[in-house]
Amino acid sequence: MLNTPPLDNELNAWDRDHFFHPSTDMGQHARGDTPNRIIREAEGVYIVDREGKRSLDGFAGLYCVNIGYGRKEISDAIAAQAAELPYYHAYAGHGSEPSIRLAKMVIDRAPQGMSRVFFGLSGSDANETNLKLVWYINNVLGRPEKKKIISRWRGYHGSGVMTGSLTGLAAFHNLFDLPKPPVVHTEAPYFYRRPDRSMDEAAFSRLCAEKLEEMILAEGPDTIAAFIGEPVLGTGGIVPPPAGYWQAIQAVLQKYDILLIADEVVTGFGRLGSMFGSDHYGIKPDLITIAKGLTSAYAPLSGVIVSEKVWRILEKGSDSYGSIGHGWTYSSHPLCTAAGVANLDYLDRHDLVRNAGEVGAYLKQTLVDAVAHHPMVGDVRGEGMLAAVEFVRDRDDRVFFDASEKVGIRVAAALLRRGVIGRAMPQGDILGFAPPLCLTREEADTIVAAVKGAVDEVGASL
Ligand SMILES: Cc1ncc(COP(=O)(O)O)c(C=O)c1O
Repeated sequence: MLNTPPLDNELNAWDRDHFFHPSTDMGQHARGDTPNRIIREAEGVYIVDREGKRSLDGFAGLYCVNIGYGRKEISDAIAAQAAELPYYHAYAGHGSEPSIRLAKMVIDRAPQGMSRVFFGLSGSDANETNLKLVWYINNVLGRPEKKKIISRWRGYHGSGVMTGSLTGLAAFHNLFDLPKPPVVHTEAPYFYRRPDRSMDEAAFSRLCAEKLEEMILAEGPDTIAAFIGEPVLGTGGIVPPPAGYWQAIQAVLQKYDILLIADEVVTGFGRLGSMFGSDHYGIKPDLITIAKGLTSAYAPLSGVIVSEKVWRILEKGSDSYGSIGHGWTYSSHPLCTAAGVANLDYLDRHDLVRNAGEVGAYLKQTLVDAVAHHPMVGDVRGEGMLAAVEFVRDRDDRVFFDASEKVGIRVAAALLRRGVIGRAMPQGDILGFAPPLCLTREEADTIVAAVKGAVDEVGASL
């Protein structure tokens, strides 16, 4: 047994010998070829590792610590709930006060027409729930052929078997035998990489909608159950949609009676400067995926918000077929929902949704001013508290760097040496930012100064 805290060198050895890290180059980590980083503590927008190095966390963990670190209100709420009732399940109509309160708080903040919340633990499991609900609905409605799901290339919806299939990124498919049917992928609304540069945003949105309709017709409209999309593409490169995109897509979906799942795992609870991305872009979803900002990651919690229209079909299903055969042991775990209640309360009291819109716009503009003219910067984009810088070898002809040059990864490393964390996004040379929503203008300036230094350094070495 380990009664005494380990020394740092012991901890490093145990990390390499026993800890299987997600999304990590396993061999390099185990051999010690790459530096590991063990985080000790955090406050506000800063994290501190065990060597005492402090970094401004420009990605809020994995775009999730939205209210910032070290908020005692949340840890106190978790501790109080643990003392009173650490766990009870939610099966067969059971519940706990924080779960019910949080469901009410979520529906009060959700886009119009939303009705009930099913709680899970991760964004991935919530999207698994979405798929099962979509299939259940079409079985209840007597259309067993209508089961395919359309997702988008560069979408990110998780890394399970079906959610990894929804995800449209090669690294999450390769060697895992994914994607699986009945998932099919359509065009990403990636304006910067549009095929024809003379196209404006509205024309490119129309093209995306036309490609979607072509796919629906080719597959057979009676076989397509749902379309899933993030209001702003996240892990696929932090790509806000071109103007008119969601309107054009929704018109096609309505024409063929296809359900819309808005995956708001990143955008839900304020990241775009609106409570939900759906409100931000005029999206009217049937189902909404939530996670990350629901608890600001103080405890793992996700959810599926279902619309009144969907709820009525689910009710009809269980009236005919009995109780729904779906749930997790930890669905609506009281420690996590207590964290959620305290977190949403904190978000409101500190007016962080407004701050995300205002400081996010400032961050994007200062990034544009600092690096948009740089010869290796092809695009600077963002919405709310999401921003990205994309690197290219030739900005006039949009010639991308060879992947082997790892330009995005090198810029992120140069940034970290300057005390700022940005994320080298997994596909393409894209440096992403998703800071806590409490970021101040001064902290935004710190990020931008570091980005400028990092871009200059890597640019000079190419
Ligand atoms: C839009 C989106 N959906 C789903 C997920 C999966 O969430 P999790 O990692 O909690 O399973 C993520 C994770 O980043 C995400 O960004």
